Amino acid sequence: MFSLNKLLVCLSFLVAITFSSIALAEDISHFGIGKTATPEEIAGWDIDVRPDGKGLPKGQGSISVGEELYEAKCASCHGSFGEGVGRWPPLAGGEDSLREDRPEKTVGSYWPYASTLWDYINRAMPFPAPQSLKPDEVYAITAYVLYLNDLVEDDFVLTQDNLASIKMPNEDNFYIDDRPDTNNTRCMKKCKDPSKIVVIQSLSGITPDQEKEESTTEQNNSLSETAIAGKAIYTSSCLVCHGSGVAGAPTLTDKESWAKRLEQGMDTVVKHAIGGFLGEKGMMPPKGGNMSLTDEDVKNAVHYMVEAE
Ligand code: HEC
Ligand code: HEC
Repeated sequence: MFSLNKLLVCLSFLVAITFSSIALAEDISHFGIGKTATPEEIAGWDIDVRPDGKGLPKGQGSISVGEELYEAKCASCHGSFGEGVGRWPPLAGGEDSLREDRPEKTVGSYWPYASTLWDYINRAMPFPAPQSLKPDEVYAITAYVLYLNDLVEDDFVLTQDNLASIKMPNEDNFYIDDRPDTNNTRCMKKCKDPSKIVVIQSLSGITPDQEKEESTTEQNNSLSETAIAGKAIYTSSCLVCHGSGVAGAPTLTDKESWAKRLEQGMDTVVKHAIGGFLGEKGMMPPKGGNMSLTDEDVKNAVHYMVEAE
C-alpha cells in the first residue's frame, strides 16, 4: 500500500527534476540538446503543498459539497465512510492501532499533516483520472475525508488559510532524527576479498514462500526452458501482484482462471502481458509496470506463470 515514505521519495524526485532542469538550462549550449523549461512547464510540475500551506491555490470547500463529490468519485473504492472496499485502501479508522502488530495506517491514524492529504488527492486521485479535480473540489473532498476521520465538525469549510492549522493526531510522532551521523572508516588492510562479497537483491515487503523455495529443483524439472528463463523475471516484476492476487491479478494456483485465459491462445495472453490490458478483474499494466523488460522477458515470465504449480 501507499506509504508516506514513498510519497516523500516521489516529492523529492520532483524537486530533483525541477533543480536538474534548472542546472540543465545553464548547460544546454554545452551538450547541444534539450531546451530551457518555460515557467508554465515548471508550474505544471511544481504542484507540491507543504505543511505550512505553501503551494496551496486559492479556494475553499465545504463538507456537504465534499460529501457529494466523494460519493461520486471516491466511495466506489474507498467506501462511503472511508472504510475501503475490498482491497482498496481505507482512508479512515485505525485510531490507536499504531502500536499493534498490524497497525492500520490511515489518513486519520497515521498521516502527520493535512497538507499531504490535499496534495495527494490533487496529485493522484481519483485513481482512474488523476489531476482532474479543480482546486475547490480538492478542498471540499479533503474537508470531507478529514470529517470522516472526526477531525473537523460538519459545518467546517476548508480554505487555503485554515488548512495548515489543522492538527493531525499523529503529527507529534514524526520528528527530526537528530542522532549523529556515523561515518564508516575505509578498510585499509586485511580487508575482505571483494569477489567474495555477494549482493543479494530481494523484494521488500513480500514474505518468501518457503515451501516453494525448498521444492525449487523438483519443480524446475517439470518446467519448459522458456518457463525456467522466466522464473526470475516473474519473481522480480510480476509476483508483487500475481503472488497473492493483488487488484484482481490471477494467482499461479488459480488454474481455472488460467485455463480460461488460455482459450484466447497463448499469443494473445502474452500480448496482453506485454501491452497491458483491462479485463473484468482489473488492470494488467504493460509489462507489469517494468518497462525495462524485453518482450522476450515478459513472454518467458508468462510461460512460467502458466506452467508453475
Ligand atoms: C478506482 C479506485 C479508486 C478511486 C475511484 C479512488 N481511489 Fe484513492 N486510492 C486508490 C488506490 C489504488 C490507492 C493506493 C495508491 C498507491 O498506493 O499507490 C489510493 C490511495 C488513496 C489515498 C492514500 C491512502 C493511503 O493511506 O495510502 C487517498 C488519500 C485517496 N486515495 C483518496 C482518494 C479520493 C479523495 C478519491 C476521490 C476523488 C479517490 N481516492 C478515488 C484507488 C482509488
Ligand atoms: C500491478 C499489478 C500487476 C503486475 C505487477 C503484473 N500484473 Fe499481470 N495482471 C494483473 C491483473 C489485475 C490481471 C487481470 C486482469 C483481468 O483479467 O481483469 C493480470 C493479468 C495478467 C495476464 C492474463 C492476460 C489475459 O489475457 O488474461 C498475464 C499473462 C499477466 N498478467 C502477466 C503478467 C506478467 C508477465 C507480469 C510481470 C512482467 C505481470 N503480469 C505483472 C496485474 C498485474
